[in-house]
Amino acid sequence: MPVFRYRWSSRPGPLTVEDYRERARRAVPDMVWAYVDYGAESMTTLNANRAAFDRYMLKSKVLTGREAKDLGTTIAGQDISAPILLAPTGAAGLSHWTGELGAAQGAEAAGTLSIVSTAASYSFEEIAAGTRRGHFFQLYPWADTTTGRHDLTHAMMKRAANAGYTGMFVTVDVPTHGNRESEQKRGMGNPPVLTPARVLNAGLRPKWWAAFLRHERMSLRNLVDPGEKAGGAKTAMKTLNRQFRMMRPELNWDDFAWMRENWHGPLYIKGVLDAADAVRAVELGADGIVVSNHGGRQLDCAPAAIDALPAIAAGVGDRAEVLVDGGIRRGTDIIKALCLGADGVCIGRPYLYGLAAGGPDGARHVVEILKTEMRRAMTLMGVAELAELDESWLIPAGAPVPVVDR
Ligand code: FNR
Repeated sequence: MPVFRYRWSSRPGPLTVEDYRERARRAVPDMVWAYVDYGAESMTTLNANRAAFDRYMLKSKVLTGREAKDLGTTIAGQDISAPILLAPTGAAGLSHWTGELGAAQGAEAAGTLSIVSTAASYSFEEIAAGTRRGHFFQLYPWADTTTGRHDLTHAMMKRAANAGYTGMFVTVDVPTHGNRESEQKRGMGNPPVLTPARVLNAGLRPKWWAAFLRHERMSLRNLVDPGEKAGGAKTAMKTLNRQFRMMRPELNWDDFAWMRENWHGPLYIKGVLDAADAVRAVELGADGIVVSNHGGRQLDCAPAAIDALPAIAAGVGDRAEVLVDGGIRRGTDIIKALCLGADGVCIGRPYLYGLAAGGPDGARHVVEILKTEMRRAMTLMGVAELAELDESWLIPAGAPVPVVDR
């Protein structure tokens, strides 16, 4: 063990998700940053997702002689090293050219799995070929479900099943697109608006720019047929427009029932904030619920995900698994989510920060940071096992610590 280490920079490597966020901010053009980091309208929900965690403090017991070591669990039938999945995020190729493939590889290296978006920059097949485990896939149900025909939706489901995806996550909180004005103001409209200043801004990130031009990961590969060439900006716009046309507010529970009938693996419904909706989904055969407001990107003023969680967990009980996402940036956030009834969490932006700043290894490191933070915090609390975490470990911030046991 050396007595000291010498470095040129006084800045240590990234130690936290926030450190990765700062690095990611510098790695990508402002237009991409607006797409990744901002939310809908006044960003009330985006900010609430974070603020809600701070309303809880954690109880700690001393001299327990206990240490948290193993965080392993099973979600949707798959063993993972910690209750953390990578949430689906479309067009991750903008954050880093390795996109969803790099994210899934990073997830695997950290012992977990990724939920690959329909709107990914890599096709389901490309990701399956570049990874070892069966990951999950996320479905945006298409307009054709509402016509009584389900050809497109069915084709997408079959394509994912053939590629080896084990569980399907149907996202239901996009009957129409969220109003992300802050993206539009920075040129991320449909189509993106380039100005000399924006081109210069991208040019100031030469590494990003060179990789972006070289690898052409603008288009959404699952929206073109496997044989169709998916390359430059023109195809990207064509596929994006196809996707925009396909989102429909008419989607309803009959469509969900149809999906249950036609998907034979674990089925999760993502984007639920109402306990009665969660119960209805379970009654229709959902294996899991993802409590989510889409990271504050859809309905602004929707409640913080963590605030919607307890009622849903209580309503669903043991009949289905409950995951939550939105605003998770620390291991203690995950502990709080588990105390409030979640079986696990998904992270979205945190791994995109890791990916943007450090490629697949950055995504892996973000998951490892959260795992290390979880283990340390649980040990400090006197908790050794995930199963011990329940509401009794939470104290409302600012309230006196309750006298409950001796
Ligand atoms: C998303 N999200 C998302 N969800 C989904 O079901 N399909 C998708 O294609 C996308 N795309 C997407 C892109 C980007 C850039 C972000 C940030 C998010 C939502 C995502 O799955 C998840 O619900 C949130 O990201 C969770 O919030 P945090 O962890 O980002 O705070």
